[in-house]
Amino acid sequence: MAEFKQFLSALREPVSAVEIKDGTGMVGTVGDVHTVVLRTGGALHALTAICTHQRCVVVFKSETTSLDCPCHGSRFKVDGSVLRGPAESPLASYPVEERDGFVWVKR
Ligand code: FES
Repeated sequence: MAEFKQFLSALREPVSAVEIKDGTGMVGTVGDVHTVVLRTGGALHALTAICTHQRCVVVFKSETTSLDCPCHGSRFKVDGSVLRGPAESPLASYPVEERDGFVWVKR
């Protein structure tokens, strides 16, 4: 059963909510699963960081406010929907909250 787990940076350290400023995003892990957390309009969003095409790890691009896959060029909106293929399926999103100044994701 899904439960809230702490979002960890690539260095496996807990990420404080203030580190993710508006218009930025970060790829890290939640329970060893690649996850991206980003902030737009002041609100945090959490999605899988695994591209639905062939499972490469996406990166967040502040310039275009999109999640881009370096492998074959798929792009996703911050809500996970496909902006450009070859991926056909959206990125799954997960509940996210700030707790005691840190980021927690339910997945
Ligand atoms: S694995 Fe992401 S576009 Fe192919």
